Amino acid sequence: MCDLGHHDHHEHFGFLVDTPEIRALIDTTTRLTATIADTAARVEALRPAFGALLASDGWLPESCARPDDSSRMGGGIGQYALYRAEDRSLCLFSLVVPVGSSTPVHDHLAWGLVGIYRGRQDETVYRRLDDGSDAAHARLEIAKRQQLGRGEFYALLPPTDDIHYVSTISDTPSISIHLLANDTACVWRHRFEPATGVVTPFRSGYANAPCPPDAN
Ligand SMILES: [Fe+2]
Repeated sequence: MCDLGHHDHHEHFGFLVDTPEIRALIDTTTRLTATIADTAARVEALRPAFGALLASDGWLPESCARPDDSSRMGGGIGQYALYRAEDRSLCLFSLVVPVGSSTPVHDHLAWGLVGIYRGRQDETVYRRLDDGSDAAHARLEIAKRQQLGRGEFYALLPPTDDIHYVSTISDTPSISIHLLANDTACVWRHRFEPATGVVTPFRSGYANAPCPPDAN
């Protein structure tokens, strides 16, 4: 399920974890995406369905809920695909951040919802001060910080609040659930060094599914 190597190629898309709870959220997302053109209104309408997934138990396999020692993000952070649309327009994944670990500062480049399923996370959000015309440098300042516990979630509506990092602040690994309108781990996005302004291309990868060689 969440172990790489047990799947044929076609099994890396669709429902990698197939439970009624995950199907309910993806079905609702697909329906609302087809009927609500405005992104902010669509994300708002998705809140009840996303909150329901976070509030329910038993649907996330333990194999998608553990640290990943071979993580490309470092720090043992595990990113596990639960659902991937074959056209790369939508994905659902779990992110396991061990105690004491933080993600790199990164962006997402897609609208979506992110919420806490286990543990607690501290989120630091950055505001970009330059015009984005230099692909290799960015001037960032901290826009806000917040702490989130089980069942709490926030929306991503790029470019607003799209650059952040998260740290686990609980004494157990945190697990966040991400519903995003791209194939997040396989998209070339960016990691940022706020102190120096350096921006580098970043593709986090899933622990349990390969990225297509032509992903961009
Ligand atoms: Fe993120």
